[in-house]
Amino acid sequence: PPNLQMMEEDLGLKRVNCRAKGGSPGFKVAILGAAGGIGQPLTMLMKMNPLVSVLHLYDVVNTPGVTSDVSHMDTSAVVRGFLGQQQLEDALTGMDLVIIPAGVPRKPGMTRDDLFNINAGIVKTLCEAIAKSCPKAIVNIISNPVNSTVPIAAEVFKKAGVFDPNRVLGVTMLDVVRANTFVAEVLGLDPREVDVPVVGGHAGVTILPLLSQVKPPCSFTQKEIDYLTDRIQNGGTEVVEAKAGAGSATLSMAYAAVKFADACLRALRGDAAVVYCAYVASEVTELPFFASKVRLGRNGVEEIYPLGPLNEYERAGLEKAKKELASSIQKGIAFVRK
Ligand code: NAD
Ligand code: LMR
Repeated sequence: PPNLQMMEEDLGLKRVNCRAKGGSPGFKVAILGAAGGIGQPLTMLMKMNPLVSVLHLYDVVNTPGVTSDVSHMDTSAVVRGFLGQQQLEDALTGMDLVIIPAGVPRKPGMTRDDLFNINAGIVKTLCEAIAKSCPKAIVNIISNPVNSTVPIAAEVFKKAGVFDPNRVLGVTMLDVVRANTFVAEVLGLDPREVDVPVVGGHAGVTILPLLSQVKPPCSFTQKEIDYLTDRIQNGGTEVVEAKAGAGSATLSMAYAAVKFADACLRALRGDAAVVYCAYVASEVTELPFFASKVRLGRNGVEEIYPLGPLNEYERAGLEKAKKELASSIQKGIAFVRK
């Protein structure tokens, strides 16, 4: 009923104002694709994040249900739902951070690149709307193939005259989360104590774990290196096969997405030394996009770290990764320029 809706809007406004007066740094976050397999747990975890004051949920289906459900959680973020393209502009206006898990997932036998034909258009449309409604927002891109969707986003923003390379980030956090987990298993450590840099991109051989740079410092046998590299590069496929047609990683992805989004928000708040791997516009190699460790700050990416010393195995892996990455990047750029 309209009066109930007005009351809820009024209440929402009061809660946002109340937080603003309290001086806590609340950020406005939109999730595009919020009703999906990743979108729903991501929504729940972002509703639990104390740095979020307003949470906008956008999808082309089912947002009213997800919004109603999650809005009953007694955490401070005010949740609003937006359904269909005619509400996209309202979903985006005023946002500090936009997270994009919209698009189709893989089924067994598919590569991430097989998703290009559907997801490229979805990401392009969503980024056109971001360029119009919140061009200063930090954008976290999850939709696959990430190696191409990030170049697509960059091209869309360039076309609109609003491209800021520091604000467009491809989320490769799941590769790091997996690498930390698998390496910790081999070393017999708690995964929270382990930090594995994973560079390159987010598909097969472009996922390059730098096992020579693991913290805490350790050494592996060649057998362990082969096992770990293969498992980290094919972690996504492992889940796709286990789900047997019902989609790809959603829960671990939502966890990784929130870990990364929280890092972006802490950096926006002004925290120092927020360093994570992400796939960004980069000069670390000759390619225009590359994943490596970046330092996040109030303006998004504030520093991109070099790869550091690589051993022979990693140098060979880097060459393979660059070859595939180059064509995925070119495919994304050509899609928007065509
Ligand atoms: P899903 O099908 O469960 O959910 C996708 C959601 O996107 C659906 O709710 C759908 O309605 C919505 N959607 C479709 N078109 C849209 C549009 N134009 N605007 C807004 N929303 C739209 O899929 P999922 O399992 O959540 O995966 C989503 C994407 O994330 C896939 O492309 C998948 O490959 C990718 N993914 C990436 C990573 C990563 O590490 N970067 C990890 C896992 C999955
Ligand atoms: C993943 O790494 O789990 C995602 O990219 C989804 C997929 O298709 O593997």
